[in-house]
Amino acid sequence: MSREIKRIAVFTSGGDAPGMNAAIRAVVRTAAYNDLHVYGISRGYEGMIDGELARLDVRDVGNIIHRGGTMLKTARSQRFITAEGRKMAYESLLAYDIDACIAIGGNGTFTGADIFSREYDIPMIGVPGTIDNDLYGTDFTIGFDTAVNTAIEAVDKIRDTADSHNRLFFVEVMGRNSGFIALSTAICTGAGSVLIPEIDTSIEELIDLLRKGVKRKKLFSVVIVAEGHPQGGAAQIAQKVKEAFDYYDTKVAIIGHLQRGGSPTGFDRLLASRLGFSAVEALLQGKSNVMVGLVHDSISYTPFAEAIKQDKPLNSDLVRMAEVLAI
Ligand code: F6P
Repeated sequence: MSREIKRIAVFTSGGDAPGMNAAIRAVVRTAAYNDLHVYGISRGYEGMIDGELARLDVRDVGNIIHRGGTMLKTARSQRFITAEGRKMAYESLLAYDIDACIAIGGNGTFTGADIFSREYDIPMIGVPGTIDNDLYGTDFTIGFDTAVNTAIEAVDKIRDTADSHNRLFFVEVMGRNSGFIALSTAICTGAGSVLIPEIDTSIEELIDLLRKGVKRKKLFSVVIVAEGHPQGGAAQIAQKVKEAFDYYDTKVAIIGHLQRGGSPTGFDRLLASRLGFSAVEALLQGKSNVMVGLVHDSISYTPFAEAIKQDKPLNSDLVRMAEVLAI
């Protein structure tokens, strides 16, 4: 029989993502609606280890749905990787009589949650919050849509100057080892090409494509580079291209952490609200050690082990379409 849940804790961990605040708000309000007490843990697993828990009431999460970042702060904890760190974290939860936790984060967060929930009897539910969209078990992660929109806005501006000077721009976007941000950004900005970690496009293939563009009278071009591409980052790739193909004056722009900030889009606010709400309902239904996600517009639950280990494939139709439309 599953234990009775009376007090829960919520935290954000790993890289922040726009929409995390909306998810915290949904967790706190759904819990309060169901007469649960909620504690917020500061700085993710770091705060759990150091016992940084504080009661969160419905009013504490007012006026945050539109804010980027995370009101609970976040961290990438090295100490939680150790058994000693996890023991300290468990003792903190015991000290506050916490019956269950909701973890908002990405791959690293759920890897920690998976290990922790096997070692200690604390039900954990994960809410996918990362701009990378690289978690299996959900079509979208919180923050991805906002990050893509930020990248689009930046690339639109770069296009203006690339066009004016007839230049070739390599624009690097985030995504760690996955190409979701890069692919969506490329399609939405009409980029000449996109380099994603999932496909090891060689420098020769890229140059061949650029030459074809020149033949079709492309006076300028923008190439979107995912940071995890096997040929290197935008600067390295631009250098290699320049050495073999100097038709264009070549420039590099790295969008970087701009993609992690800003007010979440409507899509991310809605997604975060649905997932935060469903995470509390999942706990009340006795679920444990799963990530709540959205698949084909329905709530689904995926064990942590699968969410972190299974590869989430890119939509191959989108990859093909990006190539065709960039002709
Ligand atoms: O996971 C989100 C992410 O922004 C990745 O896209 C990127 O590789 C990484 O975090 C950067 O991490 P940090 O902010 O710790 O440098």
